[in-house]
Amino acid sequence: MKNPYLPVSAEILEVIEETPNIKTFVLKPKEEIPFRTGQFMELTVPGIGEAPFTPSSSPQVKEKLDFTVMNAGKVTSALHKAKPSDKVGVRGPYGAGYPLDEFKGREVLIVGGGVGLAPLRSFFLTLIEDIKLYQKITFCYGARTPSDIVYKNLVMKEWPKLDKKKVALRLTVDAGDKTWKGKVGLVTTTLDNLKVDIGGSVAVVCGPPIMMKFTTFKLIDLGYKPEQIYLSMEKNMSCGIGKCGHCMMGKYYVCKDGPVFTYDKIKDLPAVWD
Ligand SMILES: Cc1cc2nc3c(=O)[nH]c(=O)nc-3n(C[C@H](O)[C@H](O)[C@H](O)COP(=O)(O)OP(=O)(O)OC[C@H]3O[C@@H](n4cnc5c(N)ncnc54)[C@H](O)[C@@H]3O)c2cc1C
Ligand code: FES
Repeated sequence: MKNPYLPVSAEILEVIEETPNIKTFVLKPKEEIPFRTGQFMELTVPGIGEAPFTPSSSPQVKEKLDFTVMNAGKVTSALHKAKPSDKVGVRGPYGAGYPLDEFKGREVLIVGGGVGLAPLRSFFLTLIEDIKLYQKITFCYGARTPSDIVYKNLVMKEWPKLDKKKVALRLTVDAGDKTWKGKVGLVTTTLDNLKVDIGGSVAVVCGPPIMMKFTTFKLIDLGYKPEQIYLSMEKNMSCGIGKCGHCMMGKYYVCKDGPVFTYDKIKDLPAVWD
């Protein structure tokens, strides 16, 4: 039987500086690693350790995997020093990912904050590859400042060119600068005057815990039911395969039962937003 902890070696093809503390790593694994959007993988930096990340590329792209990583500590700062042609390890995919079948025929509201755009980019790319399956997509994204916006080219140039009848984009920053002509305000303000059929839609949220908390509360105020709200929970992880218990949230293993949960499943658990 294959050792589930054994990573596949992957070469870094490209390192893209997204923001002052976020980089995207384009990897070429030695063997293909198929995944469903929203599933995560463990990346190993040799000699340093491993940490979980969600691919930010579409599952349709088989030969390469993109990971968008914020510099947060030991493993991520080592990754941020890596250069093209360096090698890392990849094991996975793990978790359940986004239940796309439940979204078909409905409107999809996406709300992202900061590096939470990484899994949402993969998710959004997956939706627009088969856009006819969904009524409409409304994509709200907030960053702290204009320079903290990830995937600037996609978010500010490419995605606004998509068919406006099918895709509505709402972008905001907490604090603008001299160059910024767009909206200023927390990401929750992008939910004001929402033009979404709330009863016929699902809301998919990913970002820092505080952002997910206030976004969820606002969605509930707007009339979303907890079972319509899909949250990506980022708990500390180790094994990634339901063995070590590091990621437990109430009765759930986030690595196995998640990382995506509807709010009704987790809302009464202690420390959901920690
Ligand atoms: C399912 C899942 C998917 C994820 N996907 C992504 C993704 O796509 N992109 C992404 O960027 N992240 C993602 N994360 C988060 C990512 O896994 C963590 O940022 C990563 O594990 C941090 O590892 P590290 O070794 O760099 O940090 P660690 O060294 O383990 O540090 C972790 C925390 O401790 C704090 N810390 C570290 N050093 C210090 C210090 N000296 N003083 C005070 N505080 C300190 C850091 O602020 C950080 O919050 C995901 C997490 C999960 C569970
Ligand atoms: S990370 Fe080990 S059980 Fe989830």
